[in-house]
Amino acid sequence: MKTIRDINIKGKTILVRTDYNVPILDGQVTNDLRIRASLPTLQYLREHGAKKIIIISHLGRPNGVDPALSLKPVATVLNQLIQNVYFSANVSGPDVSTAVDNLPDGGILLLENLRFYPGETSNSTDFIEEILSSTKPDFYVQDGFAVVHRAHASTDAVKHFLPIYAGLLVEREVSNLSSALQNPTHPVALIIGGAKVEDKQPLIDNFLNIADHILVGGQIAANGYTPNNPKIYVANDFDTDTTGTKLDIGPLSTAEFANRIVDAKTIIWNGTLGKVEDPAYATASTIVAELLGENQSATTIICGGDTTAFVENLISEHQNLHYSLISTGGGASLEFLCGKTLPGLAAIAE
Ligand code: 3PG
Repeated sequence: MKTIRDINIKGKTILVRTDYNVPILDGQVTNDLRIRASLPTLQYLREHGAKKIIIISHLGRPNGVDPALSLKPVATVLNQLIQNVYFSANVSGPDVSTAVDNLPDGGILLLENLRFYPGETSNSTDFIEEILSSTKPDFYVQDGFAVVHRAHASTDAVKHFLPIYAGLLVEREVSNLSSALQNPTHPVALIIGGAKVEDKQPLIDNFLNIADHILVGGQIAANGYTPNNPKIYVANDFDTDTTGTKLDIGPLSTAEFANRIVDAKTIIWNGTLGKVEDPAYATASTIVAELLGENQSATTIICGGDTTAFVENLISEHQNLHYSLISTGGGASLEFLCGKTLPGLAAIAE
């Protein structure tokens, strides 16, 4: 996979696809993980003398233009983090060309939500061509790891116009996730939680040949998941509310999880083990998060939106916790770990 390290950036205009699909409430970004995760690439481009940086992204699943899903609040956060950031309310056309022309050296221009236009999700070559002709980039960089499982104009069709280079986030995510799939250091433990068994079964299936332990908690275990392999341990005691609803895995199962991950050298965790939004049912997830975060001799990978948000929150209170990768990809990291070919990665120049 070719990356931005393979190109001469000095004096060039670079178009970067990021994934700024972040939660926004009342015009404020409420979780900036994906914005912060894009900074290493942007800083690298600036430090290597990029003349202009233009960023494209999507936000949500709008049906046409929807002010509630504007990327403008993201531009505000980005400007606080790395300054010299401007926003364009359009994605192509004369206004965008003028904004690009007026961008100061090293300036960053974030264009409006790509999904305001149907051409993005329909993978339209015309749509991406309009963006390219308005922005005139020398290079195209794919750094939106969380969207590479979609065959959209900015992840796929763009490859027909110019070679795509991976940004540092895509490089980091791919290298960590592939090391878990190909020749991981054993013992390997996969921890599964969350609610939807149909989402997680392909992951369990793919790891039957890779993992030494597969530990199942969360709603999936509470619903009575039946293991079909001796490697799979399913939580079997639970903390309940007064009505008997199972809301966290219990102390015996948590101890069994801990027992099986304590010596693991590669640990992948996808899905919280209880209803963590209520602190009373976050005990098992907290214990597991601490065990992983304090273990500096193992490769530890956290993925899935709820799990990463939970772990990020814990880190903000306990700065001694460190993980090899807190993946920014929800569906993308899940599909990657299931062994699927992701269109946005396949499109990157070899
Ligand atoms: C995500 O948040 O998982 C990505 O941004 C992809 O979003 P999508 O599921 O709406 O394509």
